[in-house]
Amino acid sequence: MASSTGIRVASKRAGAMAFAIAASAALSGSCVDRVSAERQGAEVFADRAYSSSRFNGYACATCHRATPSEQPGRVLPGAMLAGSTRRSTFWGGSVVAFEDAVALCFEKFMRGGRFDPTDDRSIALYAYLDSLASRPDAVTTPIPVTIPLTTSPPGPGDATRGQRVYDNACGYCHGAPRAAQRPIPSASTLPDDTEREHGVAQGYSIETLRQVFVEKTRHGAFLGFAGFMPPFSTETLPDQDLADIVAYLAPTLR
Ligand code: HEC
Ligand code: HEC
Repeated sequence: MASSTGIRVASKRAGAMAFAIAASAALSGSCVDRVSAERQGAEVFADRAYSSSRFNGYACATCHRATPSEQPGRVLPGAMLAGSTRRSTFWGGSVVAFEDAVALCFEKFMRGGRFDPTDDRSIALYAYLDSLASRPDAVTTPIPVTIPLTTSPPGPGDATRGQRVYDNACGYCHGAPRAAQRPIPSASTLPDDTEREHGVAQGYSIETLRQVFVEKTRHGAFLGFAGFMPPFSTETLPDQDLADIVAYLAPTLR
């Protein structure tokens, strides 16, 4: 089993520290400025309009907790971010600059165009996230993120449990199965959209259909997949939870 993320991001920007430097230069004035920047940054964190793309439905908070107690019960694909500005690597070691970790999310998932760390809102966002690093529950060491390059067929699953896991891990974007209205409108209707392309009626085996759910969940918009869905690591969504979701969405016997 491969254990690296397979998502390699070269540091694209000259000077990996541009984000921190821009923020500290902009905030070197009074502490009132800093406090209001932190407050504005908390709003940016929860604001989908931070990306100006009309196709974007996400805020940072869609996929990340800023502090551990937020959004209890939800299985979010992104790590908790208190302490993240002090971590040495990101995305399971495949990204080495904080700025590039944020840029990846902003450009790939939020379709925000080229990430600008010197934008006022970016500076406020940095100030906010960095202010959380002094909390006692901050995590400043790298977060393990395992995204297997190749996936195995899901093991036996419990559909009843799978419904609960689906609600917590998938429902906040996809809505309930077959929902016409979804919280993230661009998120597919599950399992219908997948069945339409890879369904038994199209000549695929049920095993193939089940494998599509596994692959898409593990790889999101990476590793051969297009789109804007985030990948779920094996740490955030263990294999058994995923097998239970698949048992719920695509049972072997109907
Ligand atoms: C659609 C979901 C999604 C959105 C929206 C999103 N992220 Fe992410 N983010 C992820 C995933 C998945 C990862 C990879 C797992 C990880 O490292 O946390 C990640 C990783 C990161 C990391 C690296 C964390 C680490 O320690 O490895 C940072 C920092 C980050 N995101 C910040 C942001 C910020 C700031 C925003 C808003 C501008 C944002 N993200 C929006 C899904 C998202
Ligand atoms: C942060 C939002 C988000 C979360 C959480 C999320 N998805 Fe998605 N998903 C999307 C979006 C947006 C698309 C359509 C664009 C794309 O393919 O990336 C999608 C597409 C898919 C597809 C492809 C459907 C097709 O058209 O064939 C599958 C399968 C899927 N998701 C399964 C899941 C499962 C299972 C979960 C929970 C473990 C999940 N998703 C969680 C946003 C999300």
